[in-house]
Amino acid sequence: MKNEILNLLKREGLISDEINDVNINDFADLIEGIGRTEKEYIKSSEISKGLNTRYVGKNLYVFNEVGSTNTIAKFLSKNGIGNGSVVIAERQTAGRGRSGKLWESPLGGIWLSIVLTPDVDYSKIPLITLATGVAVAKALEDIGIENPEIKWPNDIMINGKKVCGILTEAITNFNTIEHVIIGVGIDANLSIEDFPEELQNTTTTLEREIGRVNENLLIKIFLQELEKIIESFNGKCYEDILREWRKRSYTIGKVVEVKKPFNKSYDAYAVGISKEGELIVEKHDGTLEKVISGECLIKKMN
Ligand code: BTN
Repeated sequence: MKNEILNLLKREGLISDEINDVNINDFADLIEGIGRTEKEYIKSSEISKGLNTRYVGKNLYVFNEVGSTNTIAKFLSKNGIGNGSVVIAERQTAGRGRSGKLWESPLGGIWLSIVLTPDVDYSKIPLITLATGVAVAKALEDIGIENPEIKWPNDIMINGKKVCGILTEAITNFNTIEHVIIGVGIDANLSIEDFPEELQNTTTTLEREIGRVNENLLIKIFLQELEKIIESFNGKCYEDILREWRKRSYTIGKVVEVKKPFNKSYDAYAVGISKEGELIVEKHDGTLEKVISGECLIKKMN
């Protein structure tokens, strides 16, 4: 984290390039201040105009460029930014995906992290990710995407190609969850050539699907959908979230390859999703298993 904060301070001209040892916490207020100034492409004023939420997105921090919005959100949350605060970057230089992968984040996409302080047990965190997936899918439906689907646990797909990924991270103190950082990356106004060749067959962008979108409006709609579904989560209406998720599932009914860490991979049939948000698969011998972690690849279409 320290290096990313140092880089941001240097990029913003707050410390000189030679300095490599500062107490980054002393700069938290300055960083918040930078995040509050209006930017060119992602505009807080447009997102805030008519934003119909109680707390999600009421505190917005927008940056031209950061390493990863999840890291900045983590840093700022340790320095006091509250529940529902949102950190957005026009570009990320070290965007993080799941399983330690790099997340391509050029100008034109939507790269943001939401800070939440839910009063829940660790086992419920996967449900927050599923809820966020539903909120993204609903926001995409609202702007005219016909059938966004959710690939377990957290990829949003359009016509079988990934358009959005979600990376949820919990900040814990002993066994208590202090904050949950939900990172959302949406490939919005980008062309497929903006991505490395190896991703071009499996990725799509909103621009490619429906033409250029108003990214500030989309962020606003998403934050509104997110607050609604987080309220269901806080009210323990988990079944409502799962129902919305199942309606949009890309995975259920398909053959998947389950790759659990440290285990041999196997093929199975995805039959459902558990109350805790795990994928339920049926193996060749008819036994059911819950997939908690690890990658799950769709093997073939029905
Ligand atoms: C995935 O691998 O599918 C998850 C990708 C999550 C990317 C987003 S972009 C905003 C936030 N900041 C990050 O560094 N990652 C998440």
